[in-house]
Amino acid sequence: MQTPASIAVVPRDLHFRLEPARDANWLGGDPVATAVFNALSLTFPEGERLFIDAVRKFRSHAQGRLVDDVRAFIAQEAIHSREHAALNSGLDRSHYPIEWIEGCVRKRIGFIRRLGPMRMLGVTIALEHFTAMLAEAFDADPDLWRHTDEELVRLWRWHAMEETEHKAVAYDVFRAATRDWSAARRYLFRTRVMALVSVHFSMNITRYAAALLEADGVGHWKARWQVARFLFVRPGLFRRLGPRYREWFRPGFHPWQHDNRAKLEEWRREFA
Ligand SMILES: [Fe+2]
Ligand SMILES: [Fe+2]
Repeated sequence: MQTPASIAVVPRDLHFRLEPARDANWLGGDPVATAVFNALSLTFPEGERLFIDAVRKFRSHAQGRLVDDVRAFIAQEAIHSREHAALNSGLDRSHYPIEWIEGCVRKRIGFIRRLGPMRMLGVTIALEHFTAMLAEAFDADPDLWRHTDEELVRLWRWHAMEETEHKAVAYDVFRAATRDWSAARRYLFRTRVMALVSVHFSMNITRYAAALLEADGVGHWKARWQVARFLFVRPGLFRRLGPRYREWFRPGFHPWQHDNRAKLEEWRREFA
């Protein structure tokens, strides 16, 4: 399986008017949903810089159009990072433990960086699978976005589109960089990394979102429960990823085996 020839990765240097994110419950007036999306946004700038550096370290293995796709991937992630940093800087730092969350994210990413380039790339392909799944999940849940400022909806839709567009770039770089590994070694490596990343990613998003809710006066355990319910019960943002998530564990997995080019085209027309 290859990335379809019709998929060209195109950076779009967009700026968004992000002031409405200063509202305590900017996501549809829902404090739990807002906390979860703020928690995600707070992990993006450092996370996306890690993805860029991981892919950069192995870009010499890329050939043909993957060379151009890597360049475009780096540009896209750099722009995402910039816009999410702008959103994050507008959050009320005197009220929410933003600096604490940013410190935790920096510590975790620093730890991953110290594990070396190949593990950085492993974490990148696993998290890119998450962002590609989440991109579709956001879009499949219009209820979530009702009563949300249009510009903020546009920011998340633009990010979702580009995550879909470049969902296989880091993965293709990984395949090129591990060309001389056996299929079994590659499979064991990426499934082991995914198992670890899944546990830490869901635990951390829960922890960060709960800390944001606690700042609004929700009790410690109640905040955790509300976030866990949002992620795993109703609407079940993470739970709904189940079938797509499990595809990762199929030998011979490739991100474009799930062909959502039609959805991507729809998004592209919106942002043309
Ligand atoms: Fe991104
Ligand atoms: Fe990405």
